Amino acid sequence: MFANDFLSLRDFTPTQIHHLLELAADIKARPAEFSTALKGKTLAMIFEKPSLRTRVTFDVGIQQLGGFSLYLSPAEINLGKRESIHDVAKNLERMVQGIMIRTFAHQIVEEMAKEASVPIINGLTDYSHPCQAMADFLTIKEVKGRLDGLKLAFVGDGNNVAHSLMFAGALLGAHVSIVTPPGYEPKRDATAWATAQAANTGGSCVITNDPVEGVRGADVIYADVWASMGQEAEADARKTLFMPYQVNEAMFAHAAADASFMHCLPAHRGEEVTAGVIDSPRSVVFQEAENRLHAQKAIMLELMC
Ligand code: CP
Ligand code: NVA
Repeated sequence: MFANDFLSLRDFTPTQIHHLLELAADIKARPAEFSTALKGKTLAMIFEKPSLRTRVTFDVGIQQLGGFSLYLSPAEINLGKRESIHDVAKNLERMVQGIMIRTFAHQIVEEMAKEASVPIINGLTDYSHPCQAMADFLTIKEVKGRLDGLKLAFVGDGNNVAHSLMFAGALLGAHVSIVTPPGYEPKRDATAWATAQAANTGGSCVITNDPVEGVRGADVIYADVWASMGQEAEADARKTLFMPYQVNEAMFAHAAADASFMHCLPAHRGEEVTAGVIDSPRSVVFQEAENRLHAQKAIMLELMC
């Protein structure tokens, strides 16, 4: 049985995550087969932060499954201020068949899931970005042909994207290392969960402040912005602190010879990654962005069918 919501990868088993990846690959290979699977169903998309990929891929994704989407901008709902989360949930559950939310505190998506009778999908919170990690591991499977035993090094801030990569990697038997400046490590509970789960799948989760050690032998080096949405005031101070963690050509000398570069995007060339890396043949960032579409179609199918 699949969960009612898609809030955190921690709510899923390795079998369920493998199944989702297989379904996503099937949808990507045979999109026409699924073109009426969500006929007449509507997904409400609540955005409290900006987006390109998440908005477009959910919007296009549900249309390709025969359904509709509704974009609700930050100004429109003003979740918890203009109207309580409870009341928003109780209204929307009578009007739509699923709700995607991009917001700040992770508790908001959890509260929506508790209140609403329709499925809730986490489209990014300050804590996690599970749809991104599903697209990322779909991409790794395509590019490397395997997930088991593969080494992914995430370099930068121990943020929402890092957390979801740790969770997915632990469920899928991958070796994930998170390389951060001191003080910017992932949350302790995230590390504890990923370490314990990885022990069951033959994977591992390592946190380090040493970029050379962290990326040694990596099959994938992954970067994200140094200051996430909501941390704009810290952006300048972080630039100096994070510069030793820039993903550049020299860093790749310590990775596997055929190592790939990934980034959830948006990217800032000259900050967390050089143009020489992100625009090189190693980079699979646009394949990764496209895979948001296929991965989320699989998620919507499982939850809303
Ligand atoms: N990677 C990602 O979630 O992109 P957006 O912020 O543009 O949705
Ligand atoms: N860590 C980034 C990811 C953007 C997709 C942020 O939260 O802004």
